[in-house]
Amino acid sequence: MTDFQSVKTVAVLTGAGVSAESGVPTFRGKDGLWRQYRVEDLATPEAFHRNPALVWEWYDWRRELIANCQPNQAHLTLAEMEKALPDFTLITQNVDGLHRRAGSQKVVELHGNLWDVRCVAEGTVREYRRVPLPEIPPRCQCGALLRPNVVWFGEPLPAEAIAAAQEAATSCDLMLVIGTSGVVHPAASLPFWAKQGGAYLIEINVQRTPISTYADEVILGPAAVEVPRLWAKWRQAVE
Ligand code: OAD
Repeated sequence: MTDFQSVKTVAVLTGAGVSAESGVPTFRGKDGLWRQYRVEDLATPEAFHRNPALVWEWYDWRRELIANCQPNQAHLTLAEMEKALPDFTLITQNVDGLHRRAGSQKVVELHGNLWDVRCVAEGTVREYRRVPLPEIPPRCQCGALLRPNVVWFGEPLPAEAIAAAQEAATSCDLMLVIGTSGVVHPAASLPFWAKQGGAYLIEINVQRTPISTYADEVILGPAAVEVPRLWAKWRQAVE
């Protein structure tokens, strides 16, 4: 167990597992398929080019589902940690927006946000929360297609987001990795960089992942239970 008293700088990396208990399906594992499609068949520029309506049907389904989900105790605890800790960075691969809905303010969204849309011609980004969509695929006023403002396989991450995430990972004393399969890079490299920078690494997941092999502690259990439990222990240690 780490000595929480000496921890000054904290970085957290979350993946789909942090939202699992809110009812948001993860990408891999038994709930991972939508119709017969895998995420790798839908979340690509090629898939959008081939069949924008199909890709949008998937996003429309996810947007409606997520609109009816609530942040869970893991999201809420992370928002509380941000308020209580002086140097805290929350990095997420999730596009569901649940961290912000839980009250987190400083969130590095590595893969964008599915409540924002981008015009493929003009590149303009705007919030668009209507569910279900009145028209699939949706179009910009200029007539061009709109796409979700998220990062697809084969696309670069937003430069500012990856720079902020790298900075937080390489300079933290403690990194908490919650509910990610640790297979999609560069996000999956962040715990490794944190470890190389000397951070203490705690992983929370319902199962072991490639990150478990070098984590200092692996806590096996659901995030909505284990994040509040860890935070309670942490507060007890510093009070
Ligand atoms: P995955 O679906 O790959 O992994 C979810 C992880 O959460 C798995 O390791 C599960 O064991 C774990 N898990 C499930 N339920 C949990 C719970 N209740 N508590 C804790 N852990 C739980 O999701 P990500 O790792 O987020 O990117 O996937 C990474 C990226 O791949 C996504 O951001 C997305 C996807 O393709 C893009 O779309 C670009």
